[in-house]
Amino acid sequence: QDHLVAAGQLSRADVEGLLDRAAEFDAALAEGGGAALPARYPETVLALCFYEPSTRTKMSFETAMKRLGGRVVDMGSVDASSVSKGESLADTVRVIEGYADGLVLRHPREGAAKMAAEFVDVPVVNAGDGAGQHPSQTLLDLYTIREAAGLDDLTIGIVGDLKYGRTVHSLATALTEFDARMHFVSPESLQLPRSVRFDLHESGAQVREHTDLDEVLPELDVLYVTRIQRERFPDEDEYQKVAGEFKIDSDTLDAARDDLTVMHPLPRVDEIAPEIDDTDHAHYFEQAHNGVPVRMALLDQLLSNHE
Ligand code: CP
Repeated sequence: QDHLVAAGQLSRADVEGLLDRAAEFDAALAEGGGAALPARYPETVLALCFYEPSTRTKMSFETAMKRLGGRVVDMGSVDASSVSKGESLADTVRVIEGYADGLVLRHPREGAAKMAAEFVDVPVVNAGDGAGQHPSQTLLDLYTIREAAGLDDLTIGIVGDLKYGRTVHSLATALTEFDARMHFVSPESLQLPRSVRFDLHESGAQVREHTDLDEVLPELDVLYVTRIQRERFPDEDEYQKVAGEFKIDSDTLDAARDDLTVMHPLPRVDEIAPEIDDTDHAHYFEQAHNGVPVRMALLDQLLSNHE
């Protein structure tokens, strides 16, 4: 692959290769905290172009590039860059291509990364395009699932904002490669977008949709919880109608299996009670930590392909 803009680009073999490579980086980091790694990309510069806020994605890409021996340049916030003067995305990425060997882009518009990839020759990673996709998050989600529950014969519940949740759209697409049984749980107004539902059905995926988590919780190997994406709602009143709809606490998990893996792409607001954090169910901080080895594997592949 030259770019990673959507999870649908990745076959099962592609994913497994990346996760295996991530496991090697993970082991090396655990052994030497990064000192054990040779500087594979000492001359390489990665550009971070984030038109929306981020903690995990931005910092883990930066850490990954530095762990591989490279450096990063950061466009900074929209307000601090010439985007605020009206510069187009196409012009911005063509300029940044001259400064860097790869580009990580987060943008509020669906399709932004795909469009950017058409304007530049350096690898582009979609770090989130509006309510569209977030494929590098999917890789770390799959890595976490593989470690915690295994990817074979998986039954997963994905709960919360399925309409605007880009991590959901990417993860669901990728899970079709693994024949997972997928249960989608949301308020009626936040069900999967028609296009995602259509693609899942076309792929022959085992999909069911619910409004009540209790219907499926006892069956699940993994519960993937998501935040209601307040910033995507055109109308605050509509957000208020669904805010706090799904809250996972100890009482909720009474009905779950003892080995249920609870995940969340983070940030959370109130979807998972802090009392879950110290239980064996909680895998969401480990999930965030997995961003570094997984993004090292992804950068290694994209940059070595481009050499
Ligand atoms: N999971 C995720 O994308 O987090 P950030 O928005 O902090 O990058």
